[in-house]
Amino acid sequence: MSLFKNMLGSEESLFMNAIALDYDFMPKLIPYRETEQKHIATCVRPLFQQRNGRNLIITGTPGVGKTVATRNVLQELEEETDEVTPIYINCWQKNTSYKIVLHLCEELGYKFTQNKKTTELFDEIKRMLNKTSAVIVFDEIDKAEEYDFLYMLLEEIYRKTIVLITNYKDWINGLDERIKSRLMAEMMEFRSYNKQETEGILRERMEYAFVKGVMKDDAFNQIVDKTYELKDIRTGLYLMRESGNSAEDRSSKEITLEDAQTALEKLKEFSEKDKSTLEEDEKLILDIIKETPGIKIGDLYKKYESLGGKGVYKTLQRRIAKLDKDRFIKTKQVQSKDGNTTLISMNEVEKKLDEF
Ligand SMILES: Nc1ncnc2c1ncn2[C@@H]1O[C@H](COP(=O)(O)OP(=O)(O)OP(=O)(O)O)[C@@H](O)[C@H]1O
Ligand SMILES: [Mg+2]
Repeated sequence: MSLFKNMLGSEESLFMNAIALDYDFMPKLIPYRETEQKHIATCVRPLFQQRNGRNLIITGTPGVGKTVATRNVLQELEEETDEVTPIYINCWQKNTSYKIVLHLCEELGYKFTQNKKTTELFDEIKRMLNKTSAVIVFDEIDKAEEYDFLYMLLEEIYRKTIVLITNYKDWINGLDERIKSRLMAEMMEFRSYNKQETEGILRERMEYAFVKGVMKDDAFNQIVDKTYELKDIRTGLYLMRESGNSAEDRSSKEITLEDAQTALEKLKEFSEKDKSTLEEDEKLILDIIKETPGIKIGDLYKKYESLGGKGVYKTLQRRIAKLDKDRFIKTKQVQSKDGNTTLISMNEVEKKLDEF
């Protein structure tokens, strides 16, 4: 057997910098978000004059550049001044006050964190941060399980800009009044990209990722169309990578429309396969949500139990968190007369994939 005989040599790969198709790749320039980045800078400006900064809540659907644009502002800040400390925290990974405070200590270079409680660690942070000023970004803020850390920062750090990023415009409504009134945040929504912008962003990534000229125009246009339809730049990055793989699989020196179509099929298959591997329990939960968009988590639990769901409430919460993370559903925190609750619906993007 000569398994590898017909494979292109690695020097012949169609990919030049495959890394450019990674979701967390930081391009040098972030086009079409100049206004948004300037606005973030405006909120930070008072810090340069030894005053307190303005706080900001950034909203927008998945894959519209909220994270990349904000991180770019932090990077520029880092390069240009020592007066302001930029800190980025993702609340998917750091979802409790303790984890957040520990991460802040790490970022600030404070090492004696062992056996210390959240409040003790926070005292150290306060001591360090109040010597200068800081911009602290909490990405995916709706994934945090508690908000004590926000209260502490707002109360005790004198000169700061806090930026909160979330997919949900009304996330703020579910927030504790004491935090809300101290936050006094401005809102900024990232709208989704139009067709030309989508094309511009993907073209730049394509030119960086692949050897010049290997991707055919019709393949690229097909990918732009689908990305624009789904309104999530990540779709385009995924499709470009997969069509490149498809071309290499058949030892082609060009990425053709056929490869783009293979990638589109894979996108569809991928979402269906994911669905079929969902446990029965998750399927039951999805069926209820499909039937009742915007259902409250408490009502969902009652329905789930009555239809034979076996998990306890905590299990349901875990399933919901997982389905949310995998983007099958959308969750929204709201305040009702009975206290805080979570509303749950199917995710639009997932629905669109179904319509292929
Ligand atoms: N204007 C842009 N220029 C270059 N790349 C962009 C731009 N907007 C988005 N991207 C790219 O698209 C991908 C998704 O962007 P990003 O992670 O910032 O989305 P997001 O709005 O934070 O989404 P989510 O709400 O799911 O976190 C990233 O790979 C990012 O580099
Ligand atoms: Mg993001």
